[in-house]
Amino acid sequence: MSTPDAARNTVVVGLQWGDEGKGKVVDLLAAHARHVVRFQGGNNAGHTLVVDGETVILHLIPSGILQPNTTCIIGNGVVVDPEVLVGELDALEARGYSIGPDDFLISADAHLVLPIHRSLDDLREHALGGAKIGTTKKGIGPAYEDKVARRGVRVGALLDLERFRRHIQATLAEKNRIFAEWYQAPTVTDDDLVAWAQPFAERLAPFIRDAVSHLHEAQDQGERILFEGAQGTYLDVDHGTYPFVTSSNTVAGNAAAGTGVGPKDLHTVVGIAKAYATRVGSGPFPTRLDSVEEEALRAKGGEFGATTGRPRSCGWFDAPMVKHAIRLNGVTHLTLTKLDILSGLGRLKIATSHNTQPGEERFTGGPIYEEWEGWSQDISACRNWEELPKQAKAYVERIENLVGVRAGLISVGPGREQVIPRDPLFRAQAY
Ligand code: IMP
Repeated sequence: MSTPDAARNTVVVGLQWGDEGKGKVVDLLAAHARHVVRFQGGNNAGHTLVVDGETVILHLIPSGILQPNTTCIIGNGVVVDPEVLVGELDALEARGYSIGPDDFLISADAHLVLPIHRSLDDLREHALGGAKIGTTKKGIGPAYEDKVARRGVRVGALLDLERFRRHIQATLAEKNRIFAEWYQAPTVTDDDLVAWAQPFAERLAPFIRDAVSHLHEAQDQGERILFEGAQGTYLDVDHGTYPFVTSSNTVAGNAAAGTGVGPKDLHTVVGIAKAYATRVGSGPFPTRLDSVEEEALRAKGGEFGATTGRPRSCGWFDAPMVKHAIRLNGVTHLTLTKLDILSGLGRLKIATSHNTQPGEERFTGGPIYEEWEGWSQDISACRNWEELPKQAKAYVERIENLVGVRAGLISVGPGREQVIPRDPLFRAQAY
């Protein structure tokens, strides 16, 4: 069955603080895309996929890599730690997925995350103490800082290690002063970094290409592209809960800048929201539960970070925040994930507004809740809308009514097949 034309190129983004289950939805939609491209973030992301009962966690390689006939691309807007990427390629190959240059390519224009970026992330967080951002300490912020400060090192430099050395030298003198004088930490030489990069450069060289031209050629052939967002809207550096955000734009608009595909070619935007809310790291979380209820929801939902293993904070669905995220991203299709986790929780709450006073920041002042009757049945085997208990339907319908978009796909478990597709975009997939 073919996917409707209107859905030709699709962007998938998170509408909360990340961990909404984007990986699974990308994996489903990738069955009918010819190319899957990441456009921002780095290995701070962690997408958990469960395929044939086996769990695969990906941090950099797009989730579509498990689909046959799909080319996965790391776009120019991503920051790439070559050590992590090589580890991921090796791990996939060890599981029997053979990955060649027709299956995977990396934009030569993407920026590198270097060991100095990881160290700086760690030192800064440590120095901030109680005021820390709660980053993943993967060096993402410092790598983006170098990019924007025009002293970054791009992936293409791995193809010529003398060029890599020259670019490193441009940033190293300053970094070493910061390490030595500000943090009393060990310094690094350009030889150290070249020696570190060499094995990764050799392994990655066949995959480093002009990804912008690749995507434009795909467009010319009428081939479908899926844009895989990482993190979530409220971690966006402009639109999120600043400064407790990541260092890239996570909203759908950045799918254009982060790949070189023009905005008129982003046809469909799928926004993913969990049926409740979670956040990892520091920062505001208006609907957070008290510790006893939070612990129960965390245990039930397995809410521990895929990248850092940290426990996620858990809370009720925040409708005004999701509604605002829908606007920021231009969402055309909504997906609600982990509805099954709410089974047996008793009465459920939905935040319908915030008690924000004029002049105060958005979403402050405390959430105002509505209570909904819960359901006790296990819904993880439901495959169509009619099979859901009436309370679950009422809960979803109230959310749809509050955020203004129908849930075109409802996910009721981690497996690929554990979905309730309601919109042709999702029904057309081969599962
Ligand atoms: P950074 O991206 O490592 O700099 O971390 C900044 C903030 O974003 C922290 O609160 C992290 O916990 C959060 N974060 C980064 N990536 C993810 C993700 O993929 N899921 C959820 N939170 C994330």
